[in-house]
Amino acid sequence: MITSHPTDLIAEILRLKRERNAVILAHNYQIEEIQNVADFVGDSLGLSIQAAETEADVIIFCGVHFMGETAKILNPSKTVVIPDMDAGCSLSDSCPADKLKEFLQEHSGKNYFVIAYINCSAGVKALADVICTSGNAVRIVNSAPKHRPILFVPDQNLGAWVTEQTGRPMDLWQGSCYVHMEYTRDSIERAKREHPEALVVAHPECPQAVRLLADEVCSTEKMIGYCRDTKATAFVIVTEEGMLHRLRREVPGKVFIPGPTDHCACAECRYMKRNTMEKLFLCLRDLKPEILIDEELRAKAEKSVRKMLELSK
Ligand code: 13P
Ligand code: SF4
Repeated sequence: MITSHPTDLIAEILRLKRERNAVILAHNYQIEEIQNVADFVGDSLGLSIQAAETEADVIIFCGVHFMGETAKILNPSKTVVIPDMDAGCSLSDSCPADKLKEFLQEHSGKNYFVIAYINCSAGVKALADVICTSGNAVRIVNSAPKHRPILFVPDQNLGAWVTEQTGRPMDLWQGSCYVHMEYTRDSIERAKREHPEALVVAHPECPQAVRLLADEVCSTEKMIGYCRDTKATAFVIVTEEGMLHRLRREVPGKVFIPGPTDHCACAECRYMKRNTMEKLFLCLRDLKPEILIDEELRAKAEKSVRKMLELSK
């Protein structure tokens, strides 16, 4: 159901989309109205697969900058636009490519196998051996060469969770997502007291104290299957609040409660929320702001992204 926006704006978006032969890809954290007009809504892994397979001429990526960049890495000849060029990511920012390059040079004797979480810049992807998302991180780490130490960048929480799952020790870059870091042991314990009937489902970007309180830790996409397939009918969802729209739409009849932080009833990503229906309309109309990447850098980054897609089949 499409709600709360003038039908002419929605109709214009849909008309321009057809006219441009464009596809609208939207992350699970986008506002409900954007999710409703998108051709595909999903997690970082699903969106990368869609971006790799699309036959559209134009990709409109409603997410954050590194997501649009990943789509461009996979589609150098297509036009890739995002509604707001300033939709960044604190996690991606925590690992600048020049700092990673310096670190790898300083520790060249280690011969690190670098696994980069997809929430990073094209420059970091170009330095990595393989990319992962929260949906395939366990599989990617399990496939890493056994004789080389792993450097996992940039998310220390996802990295620690993958080590717990696989038993594979890794050196972790000390980055984090500011949204998931807002959840605390206290805030989730409070939610459990207030909703004793609900299961707690948390994203692996959450700190360990929060993950330990969760009944399930998984990527945003896997949250759909988990909540649909378990018998429980109420869930506290410990990730960005946009996820609740998809859960409510795709798992009707169950109750979804946003995970609270110490200060708020839910957590919102200020970068994801920069995108609006008006900006989506404008970027379809003007085909800007466009994602452009230096070709040498793009080709290097493509290798590690393609390797991930290969390993995810
Ligand atoms: P997933 O889409 O892989 O669940 O990750 C969530 C996220 O933080 C994206 O920025
Ligand atoms: Fe980055 Fe966190 Fe926002 Fe995802 S939710 S885009 S990881 S800041």
